[in-house]
Amino acid sequence: MSLQLKPLHPLFAAEATGIDLTKPVDADTVRAIDDAMDKYAVLVFRGQPLTEDQQVAFASSFGTLDAGLKKLSPGAPSRFKHEVTIDISNVRPEGGLHGAADRKTISNLANQLWHSDSSFQRPAAKYSMLHSVVVPSKGGQTEYADLRAAYDSLSDELKAEIAPLHSVHAALHSRMWLGDKPSAAEIAKMPPVQWPLVRTHAGSGRKVLWVGIHATHIVEKTLAEGRMLLQELLEHATQREFVYRHEWRVGDLVIWDNRATIHRGRRFDINEPRELRRTTTNDMDSVRDSVLLEAA
Ligand code: OGA
Ligand code: MN
Repeated sequence: MSLQLKPLHPLFAAEATGIDLTKPVDADTVRAIDDAMDKYAVLVFRGQPLTEDQQVAFASSFGTLDAGLKKLSPGAPSRFKHEVTIDISNVRPEGGLHGAADRKTISNLANQLWHSDSSFQRPAAKYSMLHSVVVPSKGGQTEYADLRAAYDSLSDELKAEIAPLHSVHAALHSRMWLGDKPSAAEIAKMPPVQWPLVRTHAGSGRKVLWVGIHATHIVEKTLAEGRMLLQELLEHATQREFVYRHEWRVGDLVIWDNRATIHRGRRFDINEPRELRRTTTNDMDSVRDSVLLEAA
């Protein structure tokens, strides 16, 4: 069977059927998924009971995989076999759940702030693929906002105002905002990245309002003025009409385009297990769009 798509939202996101992701995918299927991603930016595959190996194999069909913030602590204890499998769960490698004061809990809570994965590194992330293994009894959804629609709906005046501006994205900003205190060595390992506030999406040619929690300030403005503008733009981008909310079922695989969307998890009781597994490809176009800065 071939890829079939059913829109889930008036602006973006579609449910994808007709493909078994546990099996190797051929070049035509990869192309069909890429085309669908350029249009919908979020694809939901239901009922895909992937093993870790199968998920890594599927993800690798779309480019080189990146471990994101895991690169800060290479070789740290993990529940997974592959270094590129990212643990989006509250389960400790040694068993049991992470406590409220654990660093991993801060990191999980930071995922509940609107962001594009790894927008703090060069290259940034292209596709993230999140596979659901254990779903909590309530809450714990993931929401996606369409940054193309957000850009299109800005007033001409605001479009002109932000066109020449740049923002700086830093890896640990969201964690520090939640009270984490990374060491100087950790901060130095992930130097910040500078971006234009408006990017052009390579796959569709559409303009994107490039905002999210990893943005710390605007280069051309004072900290206060820049942060308030970032806040205003983020509020604009995440209005309900631009948001698709995904209700997880066990066996879902959701793929999103980090170049065209931002996302956030929703609150749930951290005393209940929630387990998702992520694989993420590199956005090689971001190397052209971004500038690596000196460590702060
Ligand atoms: C992620 C992420 C949100 C969630 O996996 O990149 O931000 O709902 N997840 O867990
Ligand atoms: Mn994320």
